Amino acid sequence: MTGLRDRVMLAFEGKREILRADSLYHIYESAAIDGNVVALRGLNVAITEGEAVAVVGPSGSGKSTLLKCLGGLMKPSAGNVSLGGKAMVRLTGSELVELRQKTVSFIFQDSNLLTHMNAIDNVAQPLRHQGVLPGPARKRAQALLDRLGMGERSHGLPEELSGGEQQRVAIARALITDPKLILADEPTGSLDPITSREVLELFATLHREEDVAFLLVTHSRDVAAFCERSLELREGRFIAQHGIGVDIGDLSGSRELLIDDTGTLSLPPDVLAQIGGPGRFELPDVTRDSLNLERVSEERIELDAVGDLALATICPACFHQYGDSDEQLCPECGSSRPMVQA
Ligand SMILES: Nc1ncnc2c1ncn2[C@@H]1O[C@H](COP(=O)(O)OP(=O)(O)OP(=O)(O)O)[C@@H](O)[C@H]1O
Ligand SMILES: [Mg+2]
Repeated sequence: MTGLRDRVMLAFEGKREILRADSLYHIYESAAIDGNVVALRGLNVAITEGEAVAVVGPSGSGKSTLLKCLGGLMKPSAGNVSLGGKAMVRLTGSELVELRQKTVSFIFQDSNLLTHMNAIDNVAQPLRHQGVLPGPARKRAQALLDRLGMGERSHGLPEELSGGEQQRVAIARALITDPKLILADEPTGSLDPITSREVLELFATLHREEDVAFLLVTHSRDVAAFCERSLELREGRFIAQHGIGVDIGDLSGSRELLIDDTGTLSLPPDVLAQIGGPGRFELPDVTRDSLNLERVSEERIELDAVGDLALATICPACFHQYGDSDEQLCPECGSSRPMVQA
């Protein structure tokens, strides 16, 4: 049987990657009693031109943090992000701004509009930044607002608009530069069901007809259904990938588990319950592409060195020096300690 990944790869064969992240870690530092929060624990993502990918996962699993790091709005604690084939860390501030303006648009959970500008000027603003004159910029802004059912409200200030209307203005602002990639965090969260469906239809059209790529964070079944695949995030790790038409109410149907490049496999809670909960397992049957787990009941732990790999000497998230300890988890930030080439 062909795996989901192979099917997706086949569908996007010959297309270039628009976004790529390798070993992304993020840690929010805090002096508070509960200390630092490790929000991302070594994520790899690759999105091809024109591909739509959903990120699903419970509250606090790191979805918004991931989106901000991918879009260059926040610097990850470790790891690399490339946009349109260019590594972001290598760019100067102004190069990054230019690349972002040309390639990617954001839609946030809250609309983030400029409060002193009316709807049409908020939408026209990215074009004005690119040097387009006010007349033509406003004309395109009005056309987009019309398309989103906001034509009549184009002179309202954000505070005079409802939450759903503000979100539609933010969506128009995101679309006005004809981005190749849209990063959206709960884009339809504040919309009523009808407007939400209209926005999704617009996204689907852009995706189908204009080859716009999407990375969407969502709790909604409708949003996930329009994507080619969905990535399931839990506690800062991708634990599974799902195929087209994912049902967020029941993720078990189309699930493929992911093992990250530190070798970590996190089981979704329902799978964990199915195998009888946590414990120790033997691997009687390991071949190149398959792994068989069998629960053991006696206490028996032996660790053998694997090939040329050795425990990393520095934590990739917070740069803690492990020295000659053999801890598996970073004592400062709690990240799992990866194996690296010796
Ligand atoms: N500015 C911050 N400072 C400290 N911790 C933060 C900050 N922002 C987020 N976190 C923590 O990082 C983790 C991931 O948060 P994030 O906002 O990425 O989750 P999420 O998946 O988007 O959740 P939701 O579905 O509720 O939007 C959480 O534990 C959160 O409490
Ligand atoms: Mg969020």
